[in-house]
Order: sequence, then structure tokens, then C-alpha cells
Amino acid sequence: MPQLIAANWKMFGKLADIRAYATDILTASGHAELLICPPFPLLEPFAQALAGTPVALGAQDCHAAASGAHTGDVSATMLADCGATHVILGHSERRQHHGERDADVAAKVSAAMAAKLIPIVCVGESEAERDAGQAIQMVRDQLLHSLPAGFSGILAYEPIWAIGTGRTPSPSDVVAMHAAIRSALVEQLGGAAAGLRILYGGSVKPGNAASLLRLPEVGGALVGGASLVAADLLAIAECAPRV
Ligand code: PGA
Repeated sequence: MPQLIAANWKMFGKLADIRAYATDILTASGHAELLICPPFPLLEPFAQALAGTPVALGAQDCHAAASGAHTGDVSATMLADCGATHVILGHSERRQHHGERDADVAAKVSAAMAAKLIPIVCVGESEAERDAGQAIQMVRDQLLHSLPAGFSGILAYEPIWAIGTGRTPSPSDVVAMHAAIRSALVEQLGGAAAGLRILYGGSVKPGNAASLLRLPEVGGALVGGASLVAADLLAIAECAPRV
């Protein structure tokens, strides 16, 4: 399977950026799959700019309900209606700043799957948990409680301390964590776990992408800051191994 390079624009970007960005990323050589996850207001215009291209579109969150009196929230069906095929769920910034617990994430994942979206479920330890030698146990617990029965989608391992800091785990720590995630998925989902992609996220840049993307069990990258510059996203995508 080709690797997936997913751009998490977070709360950045504006309408005027879209056309040039879309034009630039369409020059990618195509051996990695590309996914752009802009803020909600940019989804539909991005869908128009990317129509008919192989670049996929995703959102960064959704509500667990299909509709209802939830001021300020957006449902998975609305995202699909705007052209999204993927949605990032359980990002550490949502867990930290919006109080999302594993059970909330699991409910959102179920809603996304019901709307035929592919969920990208984020897990990852804090620096204190890593220093205490608890990183793998912590991530296993998050997986156990954040994935609903019958889960199908993508995982993203994002150590919280690596997000936006310029720091990344050592290759051996990434390999150990991705292997632990794979075995936890097999325990939870059985044979269905075999084909699931596990992305790495946290300070992925053109300069370190090759060393991260060649590691076993790394199925691509979730890229924040560097994804805002089309040339940097392309440079990262070019580091994906050819299959
Ligand atoms: P970063 O963000 O690449 O800016 O570290 C990654 C993420 O939060 O998904």
C-alpha cells in the first residue's frame, strides 16, 4: 500500500490560499497518497479545487451525533456532504484543550464510520509519561478505549511532546511504538488489524521525513506546521518509499 501523507492545517489558512496550494500539490509524483485537512470553512472550496484529482480531503474533528441542537459543532454527515472522505479524531490538541476523553473519541469515530468517512485516530503520550517509562502502556490504553468495536480506519501516533516542537522520538522509539500499536490492534480487532495504516506525526519536516518514513510499520505521516507550505508537503511526500 502506498504511504499516506496527511496535511493537518489546524487553525491556519484562508480562502485565497487554496488555488495556488492545490495547483502546487498536484505536481506530486504520485507514489504517496495525499490528504489535505483544512479548517471547516475551507472544506467545500478545497473540494472544488481538488475535484477530479487523486488528492483526498479531510476535516479535523466532528460531533458524535448526526444532527441536533449543538451550537458550533459539525457532524460527520455534514463533512461528507462537503466532500470530505477522512476526519482526524482525538488529536491531542482536542484532548487537551477541549477535554475530549477516550470515550468521546470512540463515539466520534463511530459517527464518522456511520457517515462513511475514514477516521484518523490520534494517540500519543506526554513527555512526563515517556520519562516515566509509561509511553507504550499509555498508548495501548488510549487505543483500547478510543476505538469502537469493528473499527476500520487509520491510526496516527503523535507523541504530544513532539508536536510543533521540532523534536522527534528516536527511530528505535518510533519502531517500538508502532510495533506496540500494531500488536494492540491485532488484540482488539483480530485479522482486520493487518491492513490498517499507522501514521507517525510530530515535527515531520522535509529534513527528517526520509528517516521516519522508511521505518517498519510507519504507513505515512500526519504533518502539521510543514504542511502549510505546499513545497514542504511535496518534499515530505517525495520521501515516502516507492512500493
Ligand atoms: P506538527 O503537528 O507537524 O506541527 O508537529 C503535527 C500534528 O499536530 O498533527
